[in-house]
Amino acid sequence: MNSGIIQSVRGMNDILPTASETWRYVEQTIHEVVALYGYGEIRTPIVEKTELFSRSIGEQTDIVEKEMYTFVDRNQDSLTLRPEGTASCIRAGISHGLLYNSTQRWWYLGPMFRHERPQKGRYRQFHQFGVEAIGWPGPDIDSEVISLGHALWRALGLVGLRLEINTLGSLESRRQYTDALKIFLSDNYSDLDEASTFRLDQNPLRILDSKDPNTKALLSNAPVMGDYLTAEDKAHFDLLCRQLDILRIDYHINNRLVRGLDYYTGAVFEWIVPGEGSQNSVCGGGRYDNLVQQLGGSSTPAAGFACGLERLINLVEEQQNRRQSDAVVDIWMVLLGESATLTGHALAEDLRRKGMRVICNCGGGTIGKQLRRADQSGAHYAVIIGDKELESNAITIKGLRIAEEQSGIPLEKAVDFLDAQLKNVTTSR
Ligand code: HAM
Repeated sequence: MNSGIIQSVRGMNDILPTASETWRYVEQTIHEVVALYGYGEIRTPIVEKTELFSRSIGEQTDIVEKEMYTFVDRNQDSLTLRPEGTASCIRAGISHGLLYNSTQRWWYLGPMFRHERPQKGRYRQFHQFGVEAIGWPGPDIDSEVISLGHALWRALGLVGLRLEINTLGSLESRRQYTDALKIFLSDNYSDLDEASTFRLDQNPLRILDSKDPNTKALLSNAPVMGDYLTAEDKAHFDLLCRQLDILRIDYHINNRLVRGLDYYTGAVFEWIVPGEGSQNSVCGGGRYDNLVQQLGGSSTPAAGFACGLERLINLVEEQQNRRQSDAVVDIWMVLLGESATLTGHALAEDLRRKGMRVICNCGGGTIGKQLRRADQSGAHYAVIIGDKELESNAITIKGLRIAEEQSGIPLEKAVDFLDAQLKNVTTSR
């Protein structure tokens, strides 16, 4: 008899009492935010028929090709642990007759399963909070779901999340774009990485997502979707952008943004944490106007998103730690001269938008005096900006709690540099 210790399955985590408090806080905040928007909770089974996912997510996607936990049960039925929640919501909506000539605003939260290579932020069992708004064709519902996500980040006190949006257009415009992309990529076949050569025939749009440096360089000259949109696609996307402007939600149009699931049509979006590497997407979604019909219902437009709770909770903890540090501020700006003062205040705003707490020295003073104030504030770093240094666009960053000084740092690198330094301060506590 083997009496060794049984380990958990790789990539599947226990959530211990020390961590579950933050989980409960985030879940509670989600409950409050979805209530503000009038969404109702739907709970679907964790196991579904395999066909549900192959028909919706797409046969030629990474998820269906290599990541699903699929097994044959005792009745010889092929079943799969759900890798996402959208397909199950639509299946449930169709089978309960809830989508015909009616509209639904739903949310869900629960475990999902993908057999990916585990690393920080990527697990084989992970949790998603998602919303699905079914039955509305216009961009008003796209902006509503985006603004619900935005409200959640605000309620959790998160800063620094970047919204990227794109449109994949209608089926017709996408077909035309895909043809043009295929011709361009076939003409440059020898510059493609191996994975992309496999995708060329079946799913060329996914190549836009390639992380390979050569393929990425090649793609900078590739045709762009924006040139193939119909007037209707363009109008939908423009209106979405206008609505986001009115809601004062910042966004960046990324015409290389494609999603890893085939059911998307029209506007798509992701919320990312800049600088977090390949696991930087906290939340992703978009329109999927053909899915209801594809799964046997009548033609019904829809839009939604899902947010990875492990990634969200990691962010909440990281930013909370930073706030709970004993210093009142992270950075003190030492400003020596008139243009240094103007530049310093603008840099301070950029740092604050990334969640760093900054005080600008006001009222002048010698460098010695300003550094003394900086030290007394408890800040971790002083940023020293002088008029002379600025002529060569450089600044100095001085550690106040550790002996460390770096001069000649280019102004435009300051935000990323300080963000990375302060993350180290937070994690080494
Ligand atoms: P997705 O982009 O595949 O979309 O996943 C959404 C989010 O789930 C990701 O942004 C990420 O935060 C999290 N996630 C995905 N895979 C993992 C993993 N292995 N480990 C940890 N977190 C992960 C969907 O699933 C769509 N159903 C979203 C949607 C809803 N679209 C419309 N409605």
